[in-house]
Amino acid sequence: MSGASERQGPEFSRLAEEYGTPLYVYDGDEITERFRGLRGALHPSLEVFYSLKANPNISICALLNTLGARAEVSSLTELVTARKAGVEPRDIIFLGPGKSRAELAACMDEAIYTIVCESVGELALINEVAAERGVVAPVALRVNPSFAVKGSGLTMGGKPRQFGTDEEQLFAETDLATRFPAVRLMGVQVYLGTRILSEDVVVENTTRILELAERLADKLGFPLEMVDIGGGLGVAYFDGERDLDVDVLAEKLNPVLDAFARRFPDTRMIMELGRFLVAVSGTYMVRVRYTKTSMGENFAVSDGGTNHHMAAVGIGSYVRRNFPIVALEREDEPTTEAWNVSGPLCTPNDLVGKKVPLPPLATGDLLGVQRSGAYGPTASPVHFLSHGYPAEVLVLEGRSHLIRERDDVTDMLARQRLYDAAPGDGS
Ligand SMILES: Cc1ncc(COP(=O)(O)O)c(C=O)c1O
Repeated sequence: MSGASERQGPEFSRLAEEYGTPLYVYDGDEITERFRGLRGALHPSLEVFYSLKANPNISICALLNTLGARAEVSSLTELVTARKAGVEPRDIIFLGPGKSRAELAACMDEAIYTIVCESVGELALINEVAAERGVVAPVALRVNPSFAVKGSGLTMGGKPRQFGTDEEQLFAETDLATRFPAVRLMGVQVYLGTRILSEDVVVENTTRILELAERLADKLGFPLEMVDIGGGLGVAYFDGERDLDVDVLAEKLNPVLDAFARRFPDTRMIMELGRFLVAVSGTYMVRVRYTKTSMGENFAVSDGGTNHHMAAVGIGSYVRRNFPIVALEREDEPTTEAWNVSGPLCTPNDLVGKKVPLPPLATGDLLGVQRSGAYGPTASPVHFLSHGYPAEVLVLEGRSHLIRERDDVTDMLARQRLYDAAPGDGS
């Protein structure tokens, strides 16, 4: 597994100096290179949609949009973020198992490309909201297929799941395309799982999804205007993992996509990607506050921890595995010691790294958790102990941009209300 972005220690020192720690740094040049590499290799008919859930920062979304990514959103705020970041409505899809009426209404008011519907109950609500507005809503069906993905870090389909509608149920709903007059079925979406590191698995999933989409549209009698093949492309985090080889992936996947595109030249083919586009770009920087030993083990107690980087605990795996962690200003020094890297929380689980090989550490050392651009603070308990969100910086073409200010005490208290303790009259 190679390292993270190409940024060097002195640059990180400057950023820490200027913006303070804990800090997320995203290498925009790395994001650009990665997107262009993937875009250049994959079949031109396949459109890449950025899944904002991986990193919802508006500047990250805007950067990817300038590169040609579209947007897959899963909340009202993500929808507004994508629009403010410059993504055109026709390039936005909205999915998620528990959409609210307000979210569905916003999808229609913004006239986004499609709502990815996750249940028949949701379809009825879409129909109601659309009818109220006097529009016909374009809808893609999210299918939970009968087949499961192999080799994914977290399985989202092919099992009992709250996502999508089971394949067999959909095939039994033969009047679905006509049952709801304010709904226009126009596509199929399947998302099988995340953190896939095998090119062959992606190819096999795609083949099966395309075949399923065709069969379903045929059975239910709607035109296949779009197929979203999910994605789930992973990046290597842990020892023994290997990054996907984009050229190998393209070589194997493109013929499958090409065959489909020839048969369905007017169908949009979509791949939705979060982690793969942004993970490698990110470094979570913390500064060591105290060093200590406890019962023979070294601890570097730092100014940030799992409150900003829950994924570093091991992404749901039972075996504890470390993200790549380095001493940013001392990368040339031999890593002769093993350090537990902990944060400011009052829980033993607040360890971003366990027995990490590092040089001897001291107070003030700058540590970097690499490959941390996806599912960082957005997927972490940032409010625990009221520390709040960390600052985020985007480095692009030699300039650094503060793209999120860190929360301060005022921010943390802003939405709390002190109850009125004045004695009442007892009534
Ligand atoms: C439906 C759906 N689409 C896209 C994504 C983004 O996945 P990834 O970050 O692995 O690309 C997820 C992640 O859970 C998802 O559930």
